[in-house]
Parts: sequence; structure tokens; C-alpha cells
Amino acid sequence: MISCGKFANKAVEQLSRIKTSYAMKNTRRNFLKFTGLAGITMAGSQIIPGCTATKSSTKSNLSEVREQVMKKHTQRFNMSGYAAPKLDTVRIGIIGLGSRGADTIALLPHIDGIDIKAVCDLVPEKAETAKKQLQRSGFNPDTYSGKEDSWKYLCERNDIDVIYIITPWALHVPMAVCAMESGKHAAVEVPVAETIEGCWQLVETSERTRKHCIMLENCCYDFFELLTLNMARQGFFGDIIHGEGAYIHDRFKRVFDKEQTTWRLQENINRNGNLYPTHGLGPICQVMNINRGDKMDYLVSTSSNDFMMGKMADKLAETDDFWKPYAHKNYRGNMNVSTIKTNKGRTIMVQHDVTSPRPYSRIHLISGTKACAQKYPLPERISIATGDEWLSLAEYKKLEEKYTPEIVKRFGEMAKAADPAGHGGMDLLINWRLIDCLRNGLPLDMDVYDAAAYSCIEPLSEWSVANRSNSIDVPDFTCGAWEKNQPVMDIALEKGGTTKVKSA
Ligand SMILES: NC(=O)c1ccc[n+]([C@@H]2O[C@H](COP(=O)([O-])OP(=O)(O)OC[C@H]3O[C@@H](n4cnc5c(N)ncnc54)[C@H](O)[C@@H]3O)[C@@H](O)[C@H]2O)c1
Repeated sequence: MISCGKFANKAVEQLSRIKTSYAMKNTRRNFLKFTGLAGITMAGSQIIPGCTATKSSTKSNLSEVREQVMKKHTQRFNMSGYAAPKLDTVRIGIIGLGSRGADTIALLPHIDGIDIKAVCDLVPEKAETAKKQLQRSGFNPDTYSGKEDSWKYLCERNDIDVIYIITPWALHVPMAVCAMESGKHAAVEVPVAETIEGCWQLVETSERTRKHCIMLENCCYDFFELLTLNMARQGFFGDIIHGEGAYIHDRFKRVFDKEQTTWRLQENINRNGNLYPTHGLGPICQVMNINRGDKMDYLVSTSSNDFMMGKMADKLAETDDFWKPYAHKNYRGNMNVSTIKTNKGRTIMVQHDVTSPRPYSRIHLISGTKACAQKYPLPERISIATGDEWLSLAEYKKLEEKYTPEIVKRFGEMAKAADPAGHGGMDLLINWRLIDCLRNGLPLDMDVYDAAAYSCIEPLSEWSVANRSNSIDVPDFTCGAWEKNQPVMDIALEKGGTTKVKSA
């Protein structure tokens, strides 16, 4: 189904984009070896020079994205609603112990019925720190570190059920594929993939191995998002017409912080589109039953120019050699706006801006025939068709009480208390649901098709931006099954719910 030559080529291109502070040569070689593509390295290396011309979205029309979108695929097995055999104790391995990995290490011990068997990071000190921290919570994980491919040894173990993948974006696909091929479920941070081929590879692997590949899109579990999902399901909004989501988060200082890893800054070079669509889009897709009754049909996308990153990189490089590799480059336009039309005729707008000095916003606007809700700018608000004003706080509170779903009623306060990331509780809810579903042999709330659909906006928006905002089809990763698939995100906790939340 997927052309191996093109996949290898794209993977090499992808990995070459993230120049982290460590040598990437080995990663590329090992990746090719791991994916069984080593034999085509020669062919790949012949193609690579040709690829340089397509690296900059400002100079090319990214025709390969369109080619991938046009390819026909067949579903082998429908993973939507699939329940894997139940597990008494969920045995976990974790790859990537940076900023988000540290949050996860602090969070997971709050969930009953798990054992953390192994942790891995390229940097040995991070693995050792995580091990010590987990030992204080009663776990005794083995560590893997030191090499670009140490994670493969973790995947090979036969005493792990699910592997968390919390690494730079370009490593998500090879690691998740390896996890599933080795008989483990993959729980992958956002976005799950950066290319259409990567998305399809995950879909194909999940279907073939019947292993879950869930993207840890935590914003689907934020409390207002869950409230509006419940309201939508109860018909409060009437027919859903339009939704808006965003990732507007001023990370300007962080991407130019020498103390942080630099892969994110590197990702912003020679690309132009929405690099981080899933936080804003995921909750809207849940409300619209995307992949379960509706589907994203096509997308158009526009980016502003870069007014900030290039200037900052050039300025820093004048006095500090560390920044020289980042100077005089093409940076992603600061604001990206993408619009999606769904097969059922709805519209979705998604924005991305991580550099402009603005208050944080994921927007989360739901607009229906009977009512409207909007989260940002805070406070959260709801309006109904009878007036053109937002409801008063007292009226809002009444609705909140009526529509708060069972998952928040039962676990909301505990989730807020056990939240190392300052994310308000959603991180615990997504992880608890994952573990509880695995322990009870239930379908997961989100599947590989959701992971692929939310993430594919990244390459699609790049294509559209490079082509004067022309439209491009959103691939149907369900191969038509979306028309019959049923919503599975069980916010009413009709099944399961037996896993306890505890103090770590
Ligand atoms: N859902 C959320 O709210 C949220 C928040 C932050 C980050 N994230 C996601 O989490 C992921 C990690 O982000 P972060 O902020 O922790 O980045 P980070 O750079 O702080 O951490 C990444 C870690 O991966 C390790 N790593 C790199 N290459 C590796 C390899 N070959 N083998 C093993 N380890 C390797 C690095 O050493 C580092 O410790 C990203 O995908 C990001 O998008 C999600």
C-alpha cells in the first residue's frame, strides 16, 4: 500500500529536519535499519538530493503531499470500537523523559493497576532521575539510554503491554510502529505523525497487529470540552454548524532558550503551516463525531509571514555562536489559519501561533442551530438562541451542573489535585481512561484513525499554504467506515470505571 522508497525518503527528510543537540547520523541509519528499509539506502540516497528542492515549503508546492493524499488504501480491520483482551495490571514502558515525560512520570503513579517496567531516554541522567522518582512511588523500572536506538531494546521486552512515546515529533512514527510490531499498544504524544505516509503507516500497523495506537490528545478531556461534548450529545446545541479551535501559546522565549532542547525550533525552519493542530481540533472533532458519522472532507490554509523567529535567530547569532545554525533561515509564518469543510457540511477553523505575544487560547467554539459555547478568552461562556448575549454566570452554573459528565463528576477533583503539568486535571483523565479501558477490555476513547485525522492537518496545511491556499482533500483513514462507526468516547462511564485514582 505504501511505497517503501518514498516512505524511506520522507523519513530521512523528516529526521534531517530535527537537528537536535545530538548526532543524527546514527538515528537515520538506525531508523532505516529498524524499519527494514536499510536495503534501499542506496536508492534513498539517490533520491535525497532531489528532495532538498522540496524541503522548503516557501519554494516548492509540496507535490508529494498531494500524491500521498491521492493514494488509494483499503482497510484490513476496523480498529474503531476494537477492544483488546483485558489486562489485570497494565505494564508500561516509557520512551522520552524530557519536560512532558517528567510530567507523565509524576502523574501515572496516581493510577491504580499499573506497573512501570522500563523507562528510556537518550540522555542517561534523565533515565536515572526518572527511575529514582518512580522508585519512591514503589516501581522499579529498568533503564535504557545512551544511544539513539536504545528504545528498541525497551520495545523488545516481553513484559510490557503499552509503550508511552513522549519524544520529538519525528520519532513518533518509527517508535509507535516498533511498539505495535513488538506486540505492545502505543500511547503517543501529539502530533502522532508529521506526514500523510506516517499516518497511514500507523493505521496500517494498528490494523494488522490489532494493537491500539492512541494519541494522547489530553485537551479532549479538559472539563469545558467534556461539558460541551456532553451538551452536544444531549442535543443542547441543536445541529452543530461550526467549530473553532486553536493552539495560541506564546512560547517565543522557550523556543530560543538554550537550556531547552532545540528540536522544536528546528521544526519551524523551512516549513509553513499548522505544526500543532491537535489540541484545538481534537475536542471539536469529538463534538462533530468525526470518523463516526462525519468526516473532514477538505481543507484550505493560509499563513502570515514570519515577523519574529528569523529576526530573533539572526540577532542572537550575532553574539552567540550557538545560534549560528539557526540564523538566515526561512521560518514558519507566525500565524496559520486553516479551514476545514466536513462531509456533513460543517466548518471548522483551526489556528496556530506559538510566538506572538498574546494570551493563551484554544478557542473551543461550538456553534449550533440552538446554542453556542466558547471557552477562550476565559471565562467559559454559553449562549442560547433566544438572545444575543452570553448567559449570566448563574445561568451558566446551572447548565454546568446539569451537563457535567460522569467522568468529571467522579474523577474531576482528584484529577485536578494530581496534576503536575498545571493542565487542570485533563492529563489524569486521559491516562486514567486509557488504563481503565485496557484493564476492563474496553475500546479506547480514541483510536488510530483519530490520531491520524487530527495530525494530518499538519502536512495538509503546509501543502495548502505552499499553493496559495488552494484546497486539499483530507484523507479518509477509516476507508469509508466513518459512515457506520459509532462514537466510543464513554464520558458517562457506562462501562468500566473500576480503576482507582490514588495519591502517588
Ligand atoms: N499533550 C501535551 O499537553 C503536551 C505538552 C508538552 C509536550 N507534548 C509532546 O510531548 C513530546 C515531548 O515534548 P517535550 O516538551 O517533553 O520535549 P523535550 O525535548 O523536553 O523531551 C523530549 C525527550 O526525548 C528524548 N529523546 C530524544 N531522542 C530520543 C531517542 N532517540 N530515544 C529516547 N529519547 C529521546 C530527549 O532526550 C528528551 O528528554 C512532544 O511530542 C510534544 O509535542 C505534549
